[in-house]
Amino acid sequence: MMYDRQVSFDKPTRVDGSSYIAEGIDKNEPRNTCLLYTLKDQSSGSLAKSLKIFTQHNINLLHIESRSSVRVPGYEFFVECDTTSGALGKAIDELREECSYFNIISRDYKDNSAAVPWFPRRIRDLDRFANQILSYGSELDSDHPGFTDPVYRARRKYFADIAYNYKHGEPLPRVEYTKEETETWGIIFRNLTKLYKTHACREYNHVFPLLVDNCGFREDNIPQLEDVSNFLKDCTGFTLRPVAGLLSSRDFLAGLAFRVFHSTQYIRHPSKPMYTPEPDVCHELMGHVPLFADPAFAQFSQEIGLASLGAPDDYIEKLATIFWFTVEYGMCRQDGELKAYGAGLLSSYGELEYCLSDKPQLKDFDPEVTGVTKYPITQFQEVYYVSESFESAKEKTIKFANSIPRPFGVRYNPYTQSIEVLDSKKQIRNLMDDINSEFQILQNAVQKLKV
Ligand SMILES: [Fe+2]
Repeated sequence: MMYDRQVSFDKPTRVDGSSYIAEGIDKNEPRNTCLLYTLKDQSSGSLAKSLKIFTQHNINLLHIESRSSVRVPGYEFFVECDTTSGALGKAIDELREECSYFNIISRDYKDNSAAVPWFPRRIRDLDRFANQILSYGSELDSDHPGFTDPVYRARRKYFADIAYNYKHGEPLPRVEYTKEETETWGIIFRNLTKLYKTHACREYNHVFPLLVDNCGFREDNIPQLEDVSNFLKDCTGFTLRPVAGLLSSRDFLAGLAFRVFHSTQYIRHPSKPMYTPEPDVCHELMGHVPLFADPAFAQFSQEIGLASLGAPDDYIEKLATIFWFTVEYGMCRQDGELKAYGAGLLSSYGELEYCLSDKPQLKDFDPEVTGVTKYPITQFQEVYYVSESFESAKEKTIKFANSIPRPFGVRYNPYTQSIEVLDSKKQIRNLMDDINSEFQILQNAVQKLKV
C-alpha cells in the first residue's frame, strides 16, 4: 500500500458475500414489510375487512395509515407488517385479490420477487440509516493506524455517537477539534492546496475560495459540517448529515436522491496524516464538498441517487461503481487539458499527481462499460473514466437509469423534500401540468427578453 494513498470507501465491498442490506444490525428495529393498497370496495368498513385478513394469518401490524389516493379514486392504506409473525405470503395473495392497486415495499424483498426494495420516501426517512453501518464507526480493524490508541478510539466513539443520535432537521453538532487533529488537517490542507490550481477542474477552483471565505477552510481550522452544509444548501440545496461509518451502497446512494451527502466528521489517526483506510473529514471536505456546490455536478449526483431507488441489487452494484469512477475518481477534459474532479483524487496528494501522469489508462465515461469495471480499493486506480462535462455525464447516466427494471418512475419534490413515485396515469397528468406551468414561465421570460 502506498504511503500517501487515501482511499475512499463510500462504495463498500460486500460484507458477507451475500447482501448489501445490513438488516438486523439494529436489534431494536423489527424486520418489516410495508404494503400500500387501495381496495376495490370503497364502502365504509372495507378497511376493517381487509385488516381481518392479517388477523386470520396471525400477522402483527406495526403501523397503519390511510390517505386519499393520488393514483385511483378513493383511499389508499399503508400497512407495516412484522414479518417475524404469521403467514405473510398467504395474506398478501388474499389481500391482492381485493385491491385495485397493490404494492409491496420491503427490506426483505429477496424473499418476495414481487417486492420493490424499500427506499426512503421522505427526507426524514434517512434517520433510519443512522445505525445501519456496515463497518468502522467506533470499532476499528486491527490494521487500522488507531487500533492500539485508546485516546483515538475514545474520540472515534464520540464522533460515532454524534452520528447515531443525529435526527433530520437538527443542526449538525459543532465539534471542538483538538490541537493534534487540527495539525493533521493542516498537513493535508497545505499539501493538497499546492496542486489544485493545476490539477483540479475549473468548477472546483471556482468554489474552493468561497469555502475559504465562508466556511473557515484554513490550514489552522477544521471547518464545521454545519457551516459547510448551510453553504451548500444556499448553492445547490445539498446538505450534509453526519454518518458514523460505512453505509450500504443502497442507503448511501438513496441519500443523494434527496441531495443529502452522508459525511464523516472524525479525522484520520495522526501517525499517518497522508493515509486513511476509510473516508474521514479531510476526504469529505477537501474532496467532496466543493463540487456539491456546483449546480451541474449536484444534479448529476442526484440523478445517480434517484436511479438507485427501488433498483434491483445488480443495478445498485453498477450505480455504486459508476459513483466510484465519477464522484470518487472521475476526470474531465477542460480546454483540451485533463483535470480531476473525483473526491478520492482531490483529497489524495499522491493520486492527484499520479492521475495526470502518463501512467494510468484513460477511457471515455460510458455508464454501461464503467458500471461493470472492476477496480482496486487499496491502490491507485489503473483506469480513469473521462467526462466531457457534468451535463454530458448526467445525460448518459439518465439514459442508463432508464434501462433499470423498475415498474415506476421517480421524481424528487423539493417543496416537500419527498420522492414521488410515478406509477399511475393521474400522477403523470399532474407532472405534465407542472411541466406546462414551468414552460409558461419560460415562454413569458423569453418574450420579455425578446430572445
Ligand atoms: Fe468519498
